[in-house]
Amino acid sequence: MEIFQAVTKRRSIRRFKPDPVPEPLLREILEAARWSPSWGNTQPWEISVVTGAALDRFKKANRQHLLDGVISGPDTPMPEAWPEPLKQRYGDVGKQVLTALEIPRGDKEARLRYAGDMFALFNAPSLLLFCVDKAIPREYAMLDTGAIMQTVCLLVHARGLGSCILAASVRYPALIREIIPIAETKAVIIGVALGYPDGEAPVNQFTRGRANLDAFTLWFK
Ligand SMILES: Cc1cc2nc3c(=O)[nH]c(=O)nc-3n(C[C@H](O)[C@H](O)[C@H](O)COP(=O)(O)O)c2cc1C
Repeated sequence: MEIFQAVTKRRSIRRFKPDPVPEPLLREILEAARWSPSWGNTQPWEISVVTGAALDRFKKANRQHLLDGVISGPDTPMPEAWPEPLKQRYGDVGKQVLTALEIPRGDKEARLRYAGDMFALFNAPSLLLFCVDKAIPREYAMLDTGAIMQTVCLLVHARGLGSCILAASVRYPALIREIIPIAETKAVIIGVALGYPDGEAPVNQFTRGRANLDAFTLWFK
């Protein structure tokens, strides 16, 4: 796949087919993603690949934590609030998702069911958890992790799979560790759900928004 096409056509997948992703394909993607850049080639990331029974347990438990109202304590604090126009954009994507799922904004039960689906990783058959050692200064390690995360998502797309980067997958690091033996010394930065996209689902098809180039570029000549 041509690189411009991969970048512009990749999108977040919020409904997956149940089919498992063959391990050789996951390995091929991660082998290539190793070539992502990092500060001084430090490669601070550690990636846990979670599938099968462990993932099933995690999906159920993560969803249940949300529904039980367990207070989350992610290793990366969730933003309290966004200034405009970021707040508007955040609201817009939420509206687009609910509209695609035909969930009225006022329907609290359906919204909670949807949030539960998200915490169950939209039923993806694989999850990558990106971690960095807690002893490493976090700022550049976060940049490095973002770089490899996006590289993975592009490679995933190029192989006909889909991904959804999910803050919702790392809200309860203690729960993750009950099921997946990630060391206490590692910060769980972000999770990426992977699988075969359900191409028919409207939630995987709505027109995504982006700011125009002029809204975020400054040119000095
Ligand atoms: C750090 C990060 C965390 C995200 N967490 C979630 C999440 O918890 N739930 C979700 O549905 N999408 C999540 N997303 C996906 C964004 O909503 C999505 O990337 C954005 O709306 C742009 O849409 P696109 O990926 O389809 O182009 C996350 C994306 C990033 C980069």
